[in-house]
Amino acid sequence: DRYDLLVVGSANADLVVGVERRPAPGETVLGSDLAVHPGGKGANQAVAAARLGARTALLARVGDDAHGRLLLESQRAAGVDTAGVLVGGAPTGVALITVDPSGDNSIVVSPGANARLTPEDIRAAGHLFGAARVVSVQLEIPLDTVAEVAGAMSPGTRLVLNPSPPAPLPGHVRAACDPLVVNEHEARYMLGEAAGSTPEDWARALLALGPRSVVVTLGAAGALVADSRGDEVVRVPSVEVEAVDTTGAGDAFTAALAWRLGLGEELVDAVAFAVRVGAAAVTRQGAQASFPTAEDVAAL
Ligand code: RIB
Ligand code: NA
Repeated sequence: DRYDLLVVGSANADLVVGVERRPAPGETVLGSDLAVHPGGKGANQAVAAARLGARTALLARVGDDAHGRLLLESQRAAGVDTAGVLVGGAPTGVALITVDPSGDNSIVVSPGANARLTPEDIRAAGHLFGAARVVSVQLEIPLDTVAEVAGAMSPGTRLVLNPSPPAPLPGHVRAACDPLVVNEHEARYMLGEAAGSTPEDWARALLALGPRSVVVTLGAAGALVADSRGDEVVRVPSVEVEAVDTTGAGDAFTAALAWRLGLGEELVDAVAFAVRVGAAAVTRQGAQASFPTAEDVAAL
């Protein structure tokens, strides 16, 4: 295969302001100086994987504007193959991000060009799907485009899906996930009333929705792994770190996981590695700028 990982997803300019606390409706608060970073869940995953050493390609859409050029530049600097990044159709996606003193963020995304990544674009990039060991996708692009991705998978290629931000997934998309990667918020969304009380319950209930395997990320509490080929829910512990900015840590986790699965690692082992990558990413400011190299991970 030419690529260890093909990421299909969003590319956003992240407009980031630090705040003491978030404004209530109708309220104004003053924040820090504005920082503009390359972001978006797809672009973040591609950079995270490439920085770890994965041969990575990105299939995405940006606008023909300064933000789009910023995103292409950061992908190329990380060594991502950007031949699949389409340009034009709408302004580049933007994420309005506030980060509070505990390192937690709130994000509003204006999808822009990401909303114009069409099923037709996926069909036109069919050659990329045959050239990758693993395909990773998230939900900042249209759902029918995600469905096309699930249908475009070639046999022997593994699909990793993070339903973020959460939306209702068609059954054939759920069934193609190996694994479905969710955090607590996404798990609760997908399960609704059926959620059950413990994260172990969520993992089992999510598996019953059709994916071949499930990973539930629990932040400082690590992650849970449930595989339809085994019957145990396995907990993978986290690494203790001081959180500075969690933005993009989930993307780094998922990218690392997808890459290691493509190398043939067992799911539990790939999650154990990915937990360390996610932990490293929360110790630094920003999304892509915070992603570790393989040496950084080893030094944790
Ligand atoms: O997952 C983090 C990302 O979410 C940010 O980079 C932002 O662009 C939003 O898409
Ligand atoms: Na970070």
